[in-house]
Amino acid sequence: MGFEKGITRIAVLISGGGTNLQALLDAQAGGRLPRGRVALVVSDRKNAGGLARAAKAGVASAFVSRKDPGRLVEILRERQIDLIVLAGYLSILPGEVIASFRGRVINIHPALTPLFSGMGFYGLKVHEAVLASGMKVTGATVHFVDEGVDTGTIIAQRPVPVLDGDTPEILQARVLETEHALLTDCVKALTECRVRAKNGKAWVEE
Ligand code: GRF
Repeated sequence: MGFEKGITRIAVLISGGGTNLQALLDAQAGGRLPRGRVALVVSDRKNAGGLARAAKAGVASAFVSRKDPGRLVEILRERQIDLIVLAGYLSILPGEVIASFRGRVINIHPALTPLFSGMGFYGLKVHEAVLASGMKVTGATVHFVDEGVDTGTIIAQRPVPVLDGDTPEILQARVLETEHALLTDCVKALTECRVRAKNGKAWVEE
């Protein structure tokens, strides 16, 4: 299978609806990801809505059980993946994947890590905690993935206001919009080698 030279081959790992995956697929279809290609979608849930999004976009996809880490490593290698994007992936990534893809695995989190992150902070639970805290601002984070949960070096963050009357669902929808734009911008920057990481810090070069 001929792989396009100079193109970053991206695998997106999902467990759910896949609106972040869709944002990347839309960017690619719209010519906004010229140096990247979503080459594979992997889900740890057979019925994940994101698998239908992949099929509609003509992107190869696979179900890989969280109990079969060896298969995950194998399929990533088979498809010659350069960059792994966790987009609502709820399983812990096998250490072997993190080790062999260190610095090439990123995650999108629907809050400003290190706040409202780590074990148990996923889905609506994140936004429920933000509302319970009384904070007037939340946001989205894209970070490198390390052996921890949501603890990797932050690449970029964007603030999102918390408004009076917000329910967890309303806040989640507002944060998701920012996630879609932030993730697309970070993936684009990574495919264009504009992300720098040094002394535990990372940033996007303009
Ligand atoms: C997003 O809020 C993401 O930040 C979190 O899980 C959610 C996935 O949503 N990790 P979707 O499946 O991309 O719509």
